[in-house]
Order: sequence, then structure tokens, then C-alpha cells
Amino acid sequence: MTLYTTPNLNKALSVVDLAEMKRAGEKICCLTAYDASFGALLDRTGIDLILVGDSLGMVVQGQESTVPVSVEDMVYHCRCVTRARKRAFVVADLPFMSYATVEMAAQNAARLLQAGGAQMVKLEGAHIEIIRFLVEQGVPICGHLGLLPQFINQLGGYRVQGKQPQVAEQMLADAHKVEQAGASLLVLECVPATLAARIARELTIPVIGIGAGADCDGQVLVLYDILNIDVGRKPRFFKNFMTGVGSIEEAVRQYRHQVKAGMYPAPEHCY
Ligand code: KIV
Repeated sequence: MTLYTTPNLNKALSVVDLAEMKRAGEKICCLTAYDASFGALLDRTGIDLILVGDSLGMVVQGQESTVPVSVEDMVYHCRCVTRARKRAFVVADLPFMSYATVEMAAQNAARLLQAGGAQMVKLEGAHIEIIRFLVEQGVPICGHLGLLPQFINQLGGYRVQGKQPQVAEQMLADAHKVEQAGASLLVLECVPATLAARIARELTIPVIGIGAGADCDGQVLVLYDILNIDVGRKPRFFKNFMTGVGSIEEAVRQYRHQVKAGMYPAPEHCY
């Protein structure tokens, strides 16, 4: 249970450690980072997983959505982060339309792992054939279900997904398919807490939530949100970790502590 609570900052985490954390009942703590300074800070505070998310399009580049982010943007920011990290496991997003075909997914995942130094790639939606193919080639995969920001032009807004029973059943079925295709992690974004709890319970792989309740195996948030750097909308799961602390590093330590201790997310942060 307390296997990783006092992290050994000199030992790099692997996908096997993350699976072991789920088995041991230890919450996996994840934040986004896009550069070396924050990558190093997150690493030394014992954040388990760093996501180089395509959210960088919004919080770094000032874009309206994640859609304009390119593979080369992702490679650049990923490289900045992976140069700085020693322990944290690094996952990079495959950006919009970069996995439209198996060939594109293969080429772009290779860029993120080889040039970016990422250890895993994340892709949005239940693209089972693509996941299976990448896994066969040795690319560790993180699935992403629920709210899919790359689909914003179809969705028309950032809303909770899975409230209606048919949508919830489909998401549960997709989660199983993503696991069966060989994914090692799954992110659930803006999903009712009861549905996310069921998915986390039924899946063997770790399920990391963002706005998906307290019963996921871990939590992820956008770094700039926990630091209360105002970038616009504040969803229900928003929490300002700068409150009552004297530094950014303390805020990140607070976030880690609250995730590990099951104090974040509280009921008011859940759907
Ligand atoms: O891009 C990102 O930061 C993400 C998280 C919100 C899960 O995908």
C-alpha cells in the first residue's frame, strides 16, 4: 500500500511499476508538463506520471482548442520534459489527426518515442486496430475515453460524457476493448464518478481520472490549473492548490499528497 509513497527519486518508474501501484491500491499521481523546468520540478516532488498533453495548444500556445497542435510541437515539448526527468514515467499525446491511419500512427508514435523520449503515447477514442498494431510494435499505449477534446468541433462544447445509460454502456464496452487491444493505461475525462468507478474496478490496467471521481486508480490535472493560472473555463474538478502555500513546489507537493491520501478529488469536484 505504501510501496511508492516515499518515492525513490533515483529509480525510473516503468509501466510495470504503474501496474503494481494499482494492484497495491496506491493512487497514481499525474500532472501535465511541457518544459524542462516544470518537468524537473514535478519529477523531484515525486509525481509518478508526467503527461505531455496536447493541452499545450491551449495553455502554452494560446490556441482555442487542442486541434491545431502538430506532431512536431509535441516532439519539441516532449523532448524538453524528458531531458529533465529522472523518475517520472512520461506519456505524450498523439495530436489531432496524427493517428488517422495505422501508418500515420506508427510513424508519429515513433517520433514521440525516438525523438521526444516519451515512454508511452496516448490517443483519444476506441481505435482498437491502431492500438493493437502499435502494441505489437512495442509502443506502450494509454487510451483516453469520455470527453475527447480533439473532437471539440463535433461535440460543440466541453461536457460530461456518459450520463445516459446507452452512452455509459458503450464507454464501459470501449474501455474493455482498449484493455484487450493491449493498452497499459486508460484516461477517463469528465465522466460520472459511478461509471468511472465501475470501469476502474472491472479493468486490470490503471485508470487515471480527470473529472472522473475519486475511485479511479489515479488522477491527472493540467499543471497550470492547479497553480491557478487563469486560462479561462474552470470545470467542477478545478482546485487551486496555491491556496495557503508559499511556492509552486509546495502546491505540487500538496496535490501529490491529496491524491495519494484520497483527499482529492472531494465530492464537490465530481460529476
Ligand atoms: O492534453 C491533456 O492535458 C490531456 C489531459 C487533460 C488528460 O489529455
